[in-house]
Amino acid sequence: MNSFLVKGGNRLEGRVKISGSKNAALGVLAAAMAVDGPSVIENLPDIIDIQLLLNIFKELGAEVTILDRGTVRIDPTTVTHSEALLESVRKLRGSYYLLGAFLGRFGSVRMYLPGGCDLGSRPIDLHIKGFENLGAVYEMEQDGVISLKANKIKGAGIFLDQVSVGATINIMLAAVHAEGTTVIDNAAKEPHIVDVANFLNAMGANIRGAGTDVIRIQGKAFLPAGKSYAIIPDQIEAGTYMMMAPLTGGDILVENVIPKHMEPLSAKLQEMGVLVEEGGDSIRCVLEKGKILKATSFKTMPYPGFPTDLQPQAVTLLCAAEGTGRMIESIYENRFQYIDNLRLMGANIICSGKLAVIQGGSKLVGAPVEARDLRAGAAMIMAGLIAEGETRVENVYSIKRGYENFVEKLTAIGVDIREVNPDRTK
Ligand code: UD1
Repeated sequence: MNSFLVKGGNRLEGRVKISGSKNAALGVLAAAMAVDGPSVIENLPDIIDIQLLLNIFKELGAEVTILDRGTVRIDPTTVTHSEALLESVRKLRGSYYLLGAFLGRFGSVRMYLPGGCDLGSRPIDLHIKGFENLGAVYEMEQDGVISLKANKIKGAGIFLDQVSVGATINIMLAAVHAEGTTVIDNAAKEPHIVDVANFLNAMGANIRGAGTDVIRIQGKAFLPAGKSYAIIPDQIEAGTYMMMAPLTGGDILVENVIPKHMEPLSAKLQEMGVLVEEGGDSIRCVLEKGKILKATSFKTMPYPGFPTDLQPQAVTLLCAAEGTGRMIESIYENRFQYIDNLRLMGANIICSGKLAVIQGGSKLVGAPVEARDLRAGAAMIMAGLIAEGETRVENVYSIKRGYENFVEKLTAIGVDIREVNPDRTK
């Protein structure tokens, strides 16, 4: 497995163009499998998770044609069965959207439990409850095979007792084909929920209220599709680069973003003393000369709260701030696993349950660390930016799952980074 080698100490400056959103793309691609005609999806990020999902679609019999860089045509009409028993679905979390897509389209589905980052237990009980409300019979078969069967998917009222991005999208994917109206209460409001709903509406569905906590879906027997749709920019990729500016005392213009989506982070950066300048589709983050980065408290929450997917990066930023910072992780039970790696580099962090207390200002020193998961991997790179000497971040695979052209984009803003094969650096 290759590693990234980062040399710390550089002040970052320049422009970064943000790619299409990974999580929106996973939902929209699955939605393209839920409709009844071909669609063209633009602004897809070139990352491992998307390649994996497109390969799964091909293996299932869909016609997947790459039209251009980031543009794919998907024709799902050549898929005529609802079995998705491929080992590859275990490799990524986003594959679970095929449950909703196929249940809606075919009335049944069989698939392995999904994989994804290890952030603690990640049940899908809310998805299943939603499908059961729509009339599906659920069975967990041998070897982690999920089976859902329905004579007819029927619209229903569904209350999610915990806000879940995945369950909200999955239920929408099934409900677009249900007979009658489905109302999802306490729905997640993340930008990618709106993106999936917009895609489905463009393809002929009738979904109202996406982006609020009540979503109404009027089911339709046939969704003609036949349109093009561009994915929104990646809120998490943008947030990662935004934080790199104050981290290194730098000045970065993050382009191709929707500033509204970045507000949960922008507000926090301003609290920390960072100059955040919003343009139409860009954000500039600067730690002005003579300004001190101040510590603050964060709590991860569903959107429009502070995203859990920016939590490891924000903890790393707090390592460089003056004073004591706090991070409460309220979404996942096991998302502080990377902190022992930060400590190995010299960070002063105490963790107890959902709380991490970060004493800023400790000198970090390069060390061999691991990208435990996608966002933790980005945080390790960030730690390397301010560490003395060289930091080796092992397991580039995890990072490439979610960051397009990572080395190229970082190099362009002044990072000294390269990908190395461990055998050649011994
Ligand atoms: C999505 C994102 C992930 C992000 C997360 C939270 C994708 C592919 N992944 O993951 O990057 O970190 O949102 O913003 O879009 N839960 C249950 N039962 C369920 C479903 C969820 O208890 O059936 C719990 C989870 O364990 C977690 C919380 O609800 O504690 C939120 O999870 P959810 O919003 O569903 O996250 P994902 O959709 O898996």
